Amino acid sequence: MDDATQTLIRTATEATHNAYIPYSHYPVGAALRARDGKVYSGCNVENASYPVTICAERVALVKAVSEGQRQFDAIAVVTPNGGSPCGMCRQMLYEFAPDLRVILAQTDGTVVYDGILSELLPRGFGPDSLPHDSS
Ligand code: THU
Repeated sequence: MDDATQTLIRTATEATHNAYIPYSHYPVGAALRARDGKVYSGCNVENASYPVTICAERVALVKAVSEGQRQFDAIAVVTPNGGSPCGMCRQMLYEFAPDLRVILAQTDGTVVYDGILSELLPRGFGPDSLPHDSS
């Protein structure tokens, strides 16, 4: 595995330490790399009103987009057992990067998946799915 990928996984692993998880006790860390090389990390932040919880991947994405980023090439997601991104996170990432490289790893460093988002979200609904307004 190349150095850049290892760094991305390490950043995601470090982000798990900030996870706010009083309910699930399941830490998730994400590190999203923009095309310019900048990396945005995120962790899951839970809420006493459970559905209000936000996943690590979406935290990383909104941090990046709010800083002006729109193009991404890779995300690393680290969980205790190599869990996959939820459907909501797949959809939100697909908006910006259907071809995003997705690396899923366990906290112990084991990589369980290294592939592309469009494989995790086949026939996804994206910006091009909406008819263009010609008026
Ligand atoms: N979680 C994520 O952070 N990302 C995912 O893609 C799946 C689930 C979090 C949400 C919640 O804090 C915990 O994992 C258990 O569902």
